[in-house]
Amino acid sequence: MVKTAQTRLPVLDLIRNRWSARAFSEKNITDEQILTLIEAASWAPSANNEQPWRYRYALKESPGFQHMWECLLPGNQPWTRKAAALVLCTAKKNYTRNGQPNYYAMHDAGMANAFLILQATEMGIYGHIMAGFNKEKLQETFQLAEDETPVCLIALGFLGDPEQLDEPFKTRETTPRTRMAIEAIIPDSPQF
Ligand SMILES: Cc1cc2nc3c(=O)[nH]c(=O)nc-3n(C[C@H](O)[C@H](O)[C@H](O)COP(=O)(O)O)c2cc1C
Repeated sequence: MVKTAQTRLPVLDLIRNRWSARAFSEKNITDEQILTLIEAASWAPSANNEQPWRYRYALKESPGFQHMWECLLPGNQPWTRKAAALVLCTAKKNYTRNGQPNYYAMHDAGMANAFLILQATEMGIYGHIMAGFNKEKLQETFQLAEDETPVCLIALGFLGDPEQLDEPFKTRETTPRTRMAIEAIIPDSPQF
């Protein structure tokens, strides 16, 4: 599979096989499957076990799906039309116990999302995280509290045929994934 990560060292298959798909099939996702993904997310670590992540989800052809989809930027709208579900992740900016700012809220929501998409991979579901959305529109549409900041939307679905996509999405779907060499992300390591 062209998208499988070609790693130098033997990382988990789950990590090698996860990628951000855009071509989704007609197969639906059930509420139970989404709740499974959200439960996986809930087991991520977080600063002070605050669990600042919050999730809303909508299955395709529901009004909620349309509302989330309309908040996406034009570059994300064409291919997300066929997603089986959209998930909105937000983060609670302040600690519940004392109202103090939680510097790690975005970090911890990202951790939860990593758990979510890896659980999805295990279940044969592809998750594609997106920051390309209109933040103000999303805050207004979902009446987010002052304390709750949007983190990302996640498109979910089973894999479909890349031929269904228009350019530039088709090419992106069929191009191998790349990463910086690990030397580049450990700049001061004496090993390199
Ligand atoms: C916070 C975040 C925001 C992203 N926003 C978008 C987006 O708006 N549209 C999109 O197509 N992909 C988006 N991506 C997906 C990245 O482009 C993708 O993860 C990256 O190119 C690596 O590809 P891979 O996930 O297939 O390994 C986003 C990913 C993250 C983590």
